[in-house]
Parts: sequence; C-alpha cells; structure tokens
Amino acid sequence: MINKAWCGRFKEQPEDWVDDFNASIDFDKNLINQDIKGSIAHATMLANQEIISHEEAQSIINSLKSIQNDFNHGKIEFKASLEDIHLNIEHELIQRIGEAGGKLHTGRSRNDQVATDMHLYTKEQVQEIINLIASFQHTIIQLADQHVDTIMPGYTHLQRAQPISFAHHIMTYFWMLERDKGRFNDSLKRIDISPLGAAALSGTTHPIDRHHTQELLGFTHIYENSLDAVSDRDYIVETLHNISLTMVHLSRFAEEIIFWSTDEAKFITLSDAFSTGSSIMPQKKNPDMAELIRGKVGRTTGHLMSMLVTLKGLPLAYNKDMQEDKEGLFDAIHTVKGSLRIFESMIDSMTVDTSCLNQTVRKDFSNATELADYLVSKDVPFRTAHEIVGKIVLDCIQKGIYLLDVPLSDYQSYHANIDKDIYDYLTPKNCLKRRQSYGSTGQNSVKHQLTVAKSLINSV
Ligand code: ARG
Repeated sequence: MINKAWCGRFKEQPEDWVDDFNASIDFDKNLINQDIKGSIAHATMLANQEIISHEEAQSIINSLKSIQNDFNHGKIEFKASLEDIHLNIEHELIQRIGEAGGKLHTGRSRNDQVATDMHLYTKEQVQEIINLIASFQHTIIQLADQHVDTIMPGYTHLQRAQPISFAHHIMTYFWMLERDKGRFNDSLKRIDISPLGAAALSGTTHPIDRHHTQELLGFTHIYENSLDAVSDRDYIVETLHNISLTMVHLSRFAEEIIFWSTDEAKFITLSDAFSTGSSIMPQKKNPDMAELIRGKVGRTTGHLMSMLVTLKGLPLAYNKDMQEDKEGLFDAIHTVKGSLRIFESMIDSMTVDTSCLNQTVRKDFSNATELADYLVSKDVPFRTAHEIVGKIVLDCIQKGIYLLDVPLSDYQSYHANIDKDIYDYLTPKNCLKRRQSYGSTGQNSVKHQLTVAKSLINSV
C-alpha cells in the first residue's frame, strides 16, 4: 500500500532515501502558520460558495487549528514520506476528521497553496525588517545628536582627507538605511498579491471566489493570470536583493566600527557585551559581532545569486526547482534581522572617544584644503594655492610638524598674503564652521540634516 496523497497511478513506492531528497518538510514546516491561515480562508470560501457544507468547513477549520496547536506544543511529528507541509497537514486532517478533510483541496493545488504561504510569509517578514530598520535609524539619530561637534578625520582612499563631524559620518548610514527601507516598502506592492485559486496552473472549474480569499487573507492585490500566480518568484528575488543591499550597507558600517576600535584609530570602544576575548592572548578584545555582520554578506548575496540561477530558463508554470526558493530566503531573513538587531545595540552601547577624535585631526594634514581656500580668499588662484600648500605640506613632513605649527615668518616666505589669522582659520572647528553649503559637514548644516531626518522618521 503506497502511503501518498498522489498514490493512485503509482505501483511502486520510492525508497526512504529518495523521499528524503524530494521532501521539503524539514524547512517548509516554518510555513505552518501561513499554510493553516490559507487553508482556513480556502475552506471558508468553499462553504460560502456552497462547494462544501458549512458543517464540513467548520470541522476542517477546527481541526486545522488543533493541528497548529499540537504542532506548537511538539505533539506532531511530520514525515518526509509525506513530502511537505501541505501534504503533512492534509494527511493529519484526514486522519482526524475523515472524508470532510479530503474536501479541503477542492479547487486548489499545492502550486497556488505554496505560493500563498510564501506571499503571506514574505509580507510579514518584510514588514518586520522595515520596523527593525526604522528602529536602527532612530538609534543612529540619537547618537548623531550627541556628536554634531565631535570632529573626526574624513577619509578618501582611506587617507586622511578633511575634518568632518562624527554625526555627519554616521548619518550617512541613516540615509542608506532610508533608501533600503524605501525599497522594502516599495516591494510590498509586488509581494502583497493573492495567488490562491490559480490552482495547478489554469484555474478551476469549481465556482470559487478568488476575491473572497484575497480579502480573508488581507492581500491588497490579486494575480490576474493563473499561470503567473504559480510561476512568479520575482518577489523572492527582489526581497533577497533588498536584503543583500542592506547587508552590504551594514558590512560597510561594520568595517568602520572594526577600524575605529583598533589601537591605531582608538575612535570608539565597544562595550564588553558586544566583544569577545581570545583563547590565547589575554589582552585581546575582539569586535566579533561587527566582523560577523561583515562576513554574513557572503551568504545573503549567495542566496540572491542562487535564486536568480534557479529561475533562469525555467519554463511555465510550476517546476519542482521552485522548492529551492525557501531555505535561502528563510536564512537571508534570519540573517538580516539578526544583524540589524545586533548592530543597533552595538552602537547604542559603544563609547565614542570624543577627546581622542578631536585630537586626531590636530595631528594630520586634513586642514590642507583650508589653507588653499584661505589663499583663494586672498585672491590667489586655486591652482597656484594648491601648489604652494603642497610645498608647505612637504616641508612640514620633512620637519615632522603640522600646519598649525608653522611659524608666521615661514608662512609669509611661502606667500606674503598669509597673515596671523591663519592659525584661527586652520583649527578643525573652524574648518567645519565655514562649511555652510547644503548637506555639508558644517555644524549648522548637520543640525539641519538631523531635523530633516527626524521629521522623516516621525512622519511614518
Ligand atoms: N514543496 C513544494 C514546493 O515547495 C510544494 C509545491 C509542490 N507542487 C508540486 N506540484 N509538486 O515547491
């Protein structure tokens, strides 16, 4: 006797190891809540359309709820021989209520059923990711608010370039996350679509009402084409892409945190709660959380690539290849949610070494552009000023001093227009103050930026 929902046309049973290869139950049991929700909506609609009786629908619904409850209490063990979450639940249902259970699958297929589960799941998860991003942004704003006046070196090519405000630097990540949030929000209109009732591929002869199940499941849109409904995995690719890009952004921030916490930089100190020690070197305190977040981009990008390649060249409509859409998505969602949570707490608990940062920019040449701009203000063409300052910097490097240490007489030998106001002009604080251009690192511009950011966060 073959123990399968589709056993009718089969004479032989696959061996266990073949069942194991074919089965998805190990991971799609993750979709139990969505599967039961979809089935309850389907049964309700079937009764409403008089395709099954109200009593049958009620007994199906009650039993589905008790299956869900028993599963949550560890009382049910699903079997690989029953392949997936859909057939395991149906089997359990028929065991519990007999014939009525066998009526649930009227007018639907596992193809629209699994698509419904995945749409419901992805929608919920994307909403959670959006909330986590918003919370992280909130923490970035709080930190930035305290550090508008903290000055740090801004880099290009990882070489000291110009002094900037610490708040300005970290707010860059606020804006990256704002775009990420926008992409996730926009994707919802392509996720929030009901495929239920498309059945295997062509729709059904039963008088079902797809709009009713759409409404019961809270989907905003409905697929217009039954083949598209069961073949579309674009929303999974899109979600994996959005997750991958968010992870890329987190990895850039993580890299900065790792660098800032080195003895070479000493810009920040991570809290012990977000660091680990070494099994051999007693002095070590390692930024493992930040490194892990940086490292996890590998897996999320891998899942995106894997899904794209799985879909390439797939003919319409459902193909079993599509079962491969789940593990990568589940893992990517788990990864990005974990990374966002850890990152937020990590920056919330770190100490920014304000005095060390403010000192740092006094021991570099990041105010060289200012000296050139000073000469420009004294009517020297910028190109000439650039060359003069280049020579001054070279001389300073040879003497082991910085621009604020150059005596006025030396300055005047480089250019007669340099006056004693140069020392005030070159202080990092004044370098920032003069930056009044829109979106710049000047204290006033950064304060304006923070106001805009706060109004965006509060308007949601
Ligand atoms: N476990 C399958 C999946 O995840 C469910 C759909 C199976 N459909 C089928 N026609 N075999 O894709």
